[in-house]
Amino acid sequence: MRVNSIQNYNYFKGQPMVVGNMKMNKTPNETLKLFSDIEAQLWDAPVPLPYIGMAPTALSFLYANNPSFRSFHKGAQEADIGTVKGGAMTGAISQDMYKNLGAEFVIIGHSERRVNFDETDEKVNLKLLSALKKGLRPIVCVGESLLQRESRCTDRVISDQIAKAISNVNKKDISKVVIAYEPLWAINTGKSCDPEEANRVCGSIRRTVARLYGDKAAEDITILYGGSVKPNNAEELFNKNNIDGGLIGGACLSADDFVPIVQALCRTRKSDIEKYGDK
Ligand code: PGA
Repeated sequence: MRVNSIQNYNYFKGQPMVVGNMKMNKTPNETLKLFSDIEAQLWDAPVPLPYIGMAPTALSFLYANNPSFRSFHKGAQEADIGTVKGGAMTGAISQDMYKNLGAEFVIIGHSERRVNFDETDEKVNLKLLSALKKGLRPIVCVGESLLQRESRCTDRVISDQIAKAISNVNKKDISKVVIAYEPLWAINTGKSCDPEEANRVCGSIRRTVARLYGDKAAEDITILYGGSVKPNNAEELFNKNNIDGGLIGGACLSADDFVPIVQALCRTRKSDIEKYGDK
């Protein structure tokens, strides 16, 4: 039975996805080169491909927003709530502006934004609700610090972050939300989370979604793992039943690293990729 399965966190598969978060890296020209390299390598990769996303800087988004890059989708690393007409928000770029340029998704609540830019749970929730309204797919990041992990608070921290992030989302929209589990101590450190443990936490994320939105929502939602995913550990992580793919930082900056990660997902999730396609 479904309820029992959720308690055992087995066999739940959202849409397979690999998303590159380029952070504050690469000039527009370098981004163009990276996109060309990825596109060329994906043309040679086995099909079908999963949903592949790249989130460059805002400048590079505009510069490299080229229709010839057809194998992957483009999105924003961060965008403010606001209208395309503008507003008194020095330095900000709105979700509407990205949407108008063809962005499909927006990363929300990355720990680097939470820590360095004072992104509170409340702001994360407002941005997520706004993204859904504007037709941008929200990829919301949650994760515990090393201190929280060592104090055995991981599951409580994550469940609390999720409940706040998806508060007031309509039931019909919940499957559009992507959740990325990114333990802070694994980001950009080369120390990826043990795949068993990453899977256990992603299972607890599904249970939180089940508690708030029911079993069907928990089955359908896409849950990614992020934090030092590399070509040599991607397959083991993606083989886990609660992990639908990855949010990739450092390794998305080179086609030679990124495409093998995509291929690892192709190998582990072939039938789900066929079911969902790359849209
Ligand atoms: P990393 O970053 O792959 O470089 O650890 C992941 C992320 O911050 O999304």
